[in-house]
Amino acid sequence: MTATPSFRFRRLRRTQVLRDLTRQTYLSANDFILPLFIEEQITSAVAIESMPGVNRIPEGELAKRVQQVWSNGVKAIILFGVSHNKDDSGSDSWDEHGLLARCIKIAKAAVPEMLVISDNCFCEYTDHGHCGVISENDVDNDATLENLQKQVISCARAGVDMIAPSGMMDGMIASIRQALDTAGFSHIPVMSYSSKFASAFYGPFREAVDSNFKGTRNTYQQDPANGREALAESMQDEAEGADILMVKPGLAYLDVIADIRAHSALPLAVYQVSGEYAMIKAAAAAGVIDEKAIVLETMIAFKRAGCDLIITYYAEDLVQWISRDY
Ligand code: PBG
Repeated sequence: MTATPSFRFRRLRRTQVLRDLTRQTYLSANDFILPLFIEEQITSAVAIESMPGVNRIPEGELAKRVQQVWSNGVKAIILFGVSHNKDDSGSDSWDEHGLLARCIKIAKAAVPEMLVISDNCFCEYTDHGHCGVISENDVDNDATLENLQKQVISCARAGVDMIAPSGMMDGMIASIRQALDTAGFSHIPVMSYSSKFASAFYGPFREAVDSNFKGTRNTYQQDPANGREALAESMQDEAEGADILMVKPGLAYLDVIADIRAHSALPLAVYQVSGEYAMIKAAAAAGVIDEKAIVLETMIAFKRAGCDLIITYYAEDLVQWISRDY
C-alpha cells in the first residue's frame, strides 16, 4: 500500500526562489551592535586570549578604531572601559574627566554618525569588581542607584547616544530616567539589560576587562533556572520607562526571548556574550564546525525567537558575510 502524506511542506522548498519568497527571518547590517573594550594607560592593543580576534584597545587608538568599525559597515558600538583608576565605589565612572566620559567624547568626535552606547555599570571601575557599592558583604542596591544617576548624567554630558545599564539593580530604570530627564536629557533612550542571568558564559569577559572579581553575582543577577522571573524583570523595566529590553546571554535563553517578545511591544535586544563567542571560535579552530554557517544560524535563531537587535563580537564579520540570502 502507498503511504500518502496529508500535506506536502516540501512543495515550497523546491527551488531557491520559492524558499526565498517564503522566508520568514532575515539579518541586516542594521541589526548589530559591536562591543569595544578600551583600556587607559596602555600604548598598544592587548589580545584577549580567550576571545580570538578581540583586543583591548588603547584609549589613544579608539578614534582610529571607531572610524574602522564605521567603514566596515557597523553603525552602533557599546563601550566598556578597562580602568586603572579603581576604588571601592567606582567613582571614575561618573567623573567628567574619567575613562568612560573620555571614551564617549573620543568616539563621537571620531564618527559623529556612529551610535555610541555606554555600558553603565561599576564592575570595571571598582577595586572589588562588584557591580556597585558594598555594604555588609553585599551590593547595596539603593546606594548604587545614586551613583548610577551620577554616571548616566556624566555619560549624557559627554554626548552618549544611548544608556545601557547592566548592573541588575532594582529600580535602575526609574532612577536613570528621572536623573536624565531632570538634567535635560529626556531625549536619550535607555536600553536595559533587563533579563540578565548570573551566567558562566561571562567567563572570558572577566579576562577582557581584567576584573579582580572573585565570587559570584548571585545576589543581583538572575538565577538561570527562573524563566517567569526573567519575564517579570523585563516587564518591570518596561513599566519604569525602558525604551529597549534585553536578554543576556543569548543562545541558552531563547525561551526567555520568545516569552518577552510575546508580552512586550518594545524593541528587544540580545547579547551574544563572551563565552558564546569563545565557544564558537574554539570549535572553529579545532576544525569541527563551519564558523560562518554556525554564526549566521545562531543570529537567525535570535531573530526568529523575537529579537530586533543583536550585540555581538561578530558584528564586523557579520556585515561582511550577509548577502541577499541572509
Ligand atoms: C558586567 C558585565 C558583564 C558583561 C557585560 N557587562 C559580565 C558580568 O556580569 O560579569 C558580559 C559581557 C560578555 O560576557 O560578553 N556588568
